[in-house]
Amino acid sequence: MLTDIGAIVAEITAEMRGATERGRVADYIPPLACVSRDRFGIAVVMADGSLHLGGNAEEPFSIQSVSKVFSLTLALGMVGDALWSRVGREPSGSAFNSIVQLETEQGIPRNPFINAGAIVVADVLLAGGTPAEAIAGVLRFVRTLAGDETITIDAKVAAAELATGYRNMALANYMRAFANLQHPVEQALGVYFHQCALAMSCRQLAMAGRFLAHDGRDPATGRCIVTPQRARRINALMMLCGHYDNSGEFAFRVGLPGKSGVGGGILAVVPGTASIAVWSPGLNAKGNSQLGALALERLAAKTGWSVFEASHS
Ligand code: DON
Repeated sequence: MLTDIGAIVAEITAEMRGATERGRVADYIPPLACVSRDRFGIAVVMADGSLHLGGNAEEPFSIQSVSKVFSLTLALGMVGDALWSRVGREPSGSAFNSIVQLETEQGIPRNPFINAGAIVVADVLLAGGTPAEAIAGVLRFVRTLAGDETITIDAKVAAAELATGYRNMALANYMRAFANLQHPVEQALGVYFHQCALAMSCRQLAMAGRFLAHDGRDPATGRCIVTPQRARRINALMMLCGHYDNSGEFAFRVGLPGKSGVGGGILAVVPGTASIAVWSPGLNAKGNSQLGALALERLAAKTGWSVFEASHS
């Protein structure tokens, strides 16, 4: 098994440069349609803080649904296990923006990573104050996790989703009808669209994910972000629900907790070892990064990092 992570990252980056099956860029959020399919970036942060970057690892992209990991972490910090009376923790087996289960399941989304679940989580974040304060709270949290004050929210992306997000509006209104939103739908959606519009590079995203790889602690400072139990549970949700109706396939191929976004980013966690972010804007049919998943599959194979391997060397 190769253990030179820097060499492995360089090798995978070179392989991805030549890939021809790159998927399709999301175009239902207009600014995302303009991003070039040629992009590929990867960042791996090891437990000792060493950082391995490849390709366009420093270029910010729209993290979209990857943000749901951070908003969930914040909401659990606010209301703890009470969250689970409003959101489930089972895979949905449906598309990220599906409405069908909400009818039979009384407006309770299957998990916090499908859009409906993340909108409930955004509603929880509003309990702390105004929409502007909730959005600022998410941004502050992500900056703290990444140790990087330069991270921003792309207002153009948020505005584009507000203008075109009819499905999300439908989901929010439907859940409000079941009394599973406590604030006006416009406010919950405002928070949700802004968190999705966080612009981060692979390096920043991998840095922000470190606490999940280290029992809830920031390995650089030793500061406790969440309890070890909560970190394990968030990882479990990422493994089972992080890629929606593609989660089984991702676990089968990669074997790591991961969370995807339609901007083409994936955050993946190797417990005890590394936090990884990959980015390539072309998506597969289920809305997850085509090359991102392939790169992670190769990385896990070359390093033995699948959580299903007997030893993580
Ligand atoms: O709400 C949406 O549709 C987008 N803001 C986020 C969806 C997303 O990233 C799904 N992930 N693959």
